[in-house]
Amino acid sequence: MNILIVDDDANARKTLGKILKAKGYDIEEAASGAEAVSKAGEKFFNIVAIDVRLPDKSGLEVLEAVRKNNEETILIMMTGYASLDSSIEAMNKGAYSYITKPLNMEQALAIIEKGVEKQRLSIENKRLLKELTEANESLKEMDARKSAFVANVSHEFKNPLAVIKESLSIIIEGLAGDIGSTKQKDILSAAKSNIERLIRLVTDLLDISKIEAGKMEMRRENFDIAILVSEILDNYKGELAKKEISLKKDIRENVGAIWADRDKISEVIINLLNNAIKYTPAGGEVGVKLIAKENNLYFEISDTGPGIPEEYKEKIFDKFERITTEKIEGTGLGLPIAKDIVELHKGRIWVESPLQQGLPAGRQGSRFIFVLPRDFRGKNTSR
Ligand SMILES: Nc1ncnc2c1ncn2[C@@H]1O[C@H](COP(=O)(O)OP(=O)(O)OP(=O)(O)O)[C@@H](O)[C@H]1O
Ligand SMILES: [Mg+2]
Repeated sequence: MNILIVDDDANARKTLGKILKAKGYDIEEAASGAEAVSKAGEKFFNIVAIDVRLPDKSGLEVLEAVRKNNEETILIMMTGYASLDSSIEAMNKGAYSYITKPLNMEQALAIIEKGVEKQRLSIENKRLLKELTEANESLKEMDARKSAFVANVSHEFKNPLAVIKESLSIIIEGLAGDIGSTKQKDILSAAKSNIERLIRLVTDLLDISKIEAGKMEMRRENFDIAILVSEILDNYKGELAKKEISLKKDIRENVGAIWADRDKISEVIINLLNNAIKYTPAGGEVGVKLIAKENNLYFEISDTGPGIPEEYKEKIFDKFERITTEKIEGTGLGLPIAKDIVELHKGRIWVESPLQQGLPAGRQGSRFIFVLPRDFRGKNTSR
């Protein structure tokens, strides 16, 4: 800890210097403003104590010159009562404090020690902030590398999986010759449905990493969303029948066209539909509703499943968040992907649950709703 005492009064310098030395500080002296500025330009001082009145420069000028060289230096003005005003001005210009002359040593020491402590904290804070910023940067870089890795691996998985699935389909359909027994066929079918599950998972991982990297590509076009919904629902007939879930459709045919990415929007609908069927117990009901209101399209999937507890209504849209009361397969990526896609279309998605008051536990039901602007172009968007 070193202190520069700037005062034209040699006695004052000596007295203060002696006491500070006794406290373990290194002391240097300057008898004029010019000497002070030159010394402070050569090295760092923890503290510079400046007499307000110097023969060559004002204390304020010295203060400004020293401050310019080093912003961590603690500047303390020394002043007689007559020039208190200029000390206050000095504090406005960045002095830490002032001590009055004639010097009260106890008071002077207390101020200097407080100044030293403040400086220590400030330097420590800056160091921590720098460390945090650096750590944060390197975390971001590692995260980006991890996302790129997941994206590459998922991508590499997709083609071979698709080939295996195709091969299995060909064998199951008998296009490569007859299959010996129903048992063999069942085994192959089970293999195929597992491959399909893997493909879905890998597609989800690929989607998530693209979204994270901001590289989700949108291929937008005008299409009739009512037709899309009907096509999707047709594909689910078998699955709904197998689980004895009845489907209640309310699709207005005149909703018209939407300007959006057809594949991505169908992914959203499929993710919601999969959930509704997956989480609704056999014998339940799933409702699908599509209506237009002004320039927005409202899509709604309701079910008679367990519903979503209040505290999970936002969370389930985060990656890997699942309500794990039951052991039902899933990764926790369906909803976050749906949310990202909807938001990339300047829309909104949320869940309402229970369906109505007074439903029995386990059958409270939920209603997932998303709203999309029919055409968001021109709504100040960059994507
Ligand atoms: N219709 C629903 N009824 C009850 N719970 C639901 C419903 N939809 C989603 N959830 C809850 O929200 C969680 C997150 O859903 P999400 O679709 O993101 O993941 P997942 O279905 O578990 O797995 P994935 O979709 O990746 O295969 C689910 O695990 C489930 O707990
Ligand atoms: Mg899901």
